Amino acid sequence: MEEVKKKRMLSGIQPSGDLHLGNYLGAIVNWAERTEEYDCFYFMADLHTITVRQDPAELRKRSLNQLAQYIACGLDPEKNVLFLQSMVPAHSQLSWVLNCYTMFGELQRMTQFKDKSEKHRDNINAGLFTYPVLMAADILLYQADFVPVGEDQKQHVEITRDIAERFNGIYGDVFKVPTPLIAKTGARIYGLSTPEDKMSKSVPDGCVFLMDEPDVIRKKFKRAVTDSDTGRCVYYDREKKPGVANLMNIYSTLTGKTYEEIEKEFEGKGYGDFKPAVAEAVVEKLTPIREEASRLIKDKAYLSDVYKQGAERASYVANRTLSKVYKKVGFLQI
Ligand code: TRP
Repeated sequence: MEEVKKKRMLSGIQPSGDLHLGNYLGAIVNWAERTEEYDCFYFMADLHTITVRQDPAELRKRSLNQLAQYIACGLDPEKNVLFLQSMVPAHSQLSWVLNCYTMFGELQRMTQFKDKSEKHRDNINAGLFTYPVLMAADILLYQADFVPVGEDQKQHVEITRDIAERFNGIYGDVFKVPTPLIAKTGARIYGLSTPEDKMSKSVPDGCVFLMDEPDVIRKKFKRAVTDSDTGRCVYYDREKKPGVANLMNIYSTLTGKTYEEIEKEFEGKGYGDFKPAVAEAVVEKLTPIREEASRLIKDKAYLSDVYKQGAERASYVANRTLSKVYKKVGFLQI
């Protein structure tokens, strides 16, 4: 049979915190499902993390943990290229070149830059400003067709498209112009204690980490914000009942039940029945992942084989694009 060339998919998550349920249901589950259909590259965006101060030992540990967790979540390192961004120098190299094809004004308009510089007033560094350029390099190096990201990263994929088109306009078809794949609203998980905001490690009480023990998970769900409805409790209303809607979304995603089925299941029952049911569904899903990740994290030799092989496979693809770019802009080649 003739082999049809698969479309390429690429995405990454910063190892700036431990992976949580939002990363899992919003991103990694979907990545794993695409393994067969696409040529997939998934990485730890460790270069991006240092735009905000990191503890070096912690960063090292989290990067390795994240790799173990990717694998435990079902990303097979044989079928996906899993790598650490900092181990592929082409990311930094292309980033410099693209900096010279990105306008100051474009970067100034990035909402993430505005938010982050607001939050880290004492460290508004140039890396924070050029963050989207590094991200463009991440994507364009691999000639990715699709980039699955959350809504908050859409603007970064759009600027990547602009940079690619600008560069191609000058030098011919060097880069594939990527298409963002925005997770459906259903895949967006909000914080259990702050259901207006997406689940985030910076609000640990409302954040379920992949490595949380079952009792910790149960406790977090027990404290999840709902509301004081006394009559019919479990029904879907994202506006008026964001906390309940979020729990229903989690439950629905894990069990495959529709909102209607869930409403029926908890008819005449209160949150005292509903919350533990959601907690159990989460515990059931995360327990094997946690166990597998804990096993893998002890196998340092295996993990280092995986990242070495990943860096090699990624570099092969990335360096081809980089050398094309170097040639186009007029650098001499050895
Ligand atoms: N900026 C992304 C985030 O914070 C992470 C990221 C870095 C990324 N490089 C990427 C995502 C390239 C997709 C493609 O979520």
